[in-house]
Amino acid sequence: MVPLAAPRHSPPVSESERPRDSDGPTSPASPTSMDRLDAAALSAGDVYRLMTDLVTPRPIAWVSTLAEDGRPNLAPFSYFQAVCSRPPMVMLSIATRPDGHPKDTLANILATRELTINHVSEPLSQAMNATSAELPAEVDEWELAGEPGARLPSRPAAMVRPPRVASARAAMECRMTHALPLGHGPKGPSSTLVLAEVLVFWVAPGLIRRDERGRLSPMDPADLGAIGRLGGMSYARTRDTFVMPRPGAGSGSHRPPKP
Ligand SMILES: Cc1cc2nc3c(=O)[nH]c(=O)nc-3n(C[C@H](O)[C@H](O)[C@H](O)COP(=O)(O)O)c2cc1C
Repeated sequence: MVPLAAPRHSPPVSESERPRDSDGPTSPASPTSMDRLDAAALSAGDVYRLMTDLVTPRPIAWVSTLAEDGRPNLAPFSYFQAVCSRPPMVMLSIATRPDGHPKDTLANILATRELTINHVSEPLSQAMNATSAELPAEVDEWELAGEPGARLPSRPAAMVRPPRVASARAAMECRMTHALPLGHGPKGPSSTLVLAEVLVFWVAPGLIRRDERGRLSPMDPADLGAIGRLGGMSYARTRDTFVMPRPGAGSGSHRPPKP
């Protein structure tokens, strides 16, 4: 995403430079000296830096859409989350281009209400990144993401039109339910929040297992191999994981009581 306003620089204020709050010292576990940066005094670029450094790791939605005339588009978005389970819903936040125009993904979603979100595992990271280039709408990112001279292979979706990435370990066919403009850029909203309902889940062979009562067992994160977006150009792998049952959920249960 691109800074949307002229920078307003404000030096960070460190806690040690300020008088201590009247309600006493920080707890023993708190860092003793932290930098305070008030959002309203920061440039858009600095705010973006803090948001993307501090809200991490972020999952990556690799979003396939079609323009009204059927032209395909594929691009990654890490302002992405699951927000509801009944019905399954996800959200994406898509920044407005500096010239005020919507990114192709948003224009396509608003025109067709359909999107297919592909899971990104480490072997797909280069292909995913190739589709993040800022390109004219006529360019088919599937051409850029494939092996030299070949289009990235796709598979048809079942309930929406945008195709799936054939080599993705999972995909979700979605229909947009809401689009909410957020913030103020120099030329309109700075972003648009898209909420979408998941209609179909696709999962690679071997990942779906059920327990003796027929309930889905948790997937092995190593088999799924998701990558996450960190700050700057960094990414996280999900190989190094640990298990921690929630209090009251029973030992080893994958079904915590309720979110
Ligand atoms: C890992 C990754 C995550 C990204 N996340 C976002 C995001 O959350 N929102 C956004 O507006 N752009 C994001 N981008 C940039 C878009 O992918 C980029 O602007 C792309 O060109 C949009 O393509 P489109 O115009 O075809 O929709 C991200 C790029 C990368 C590599």
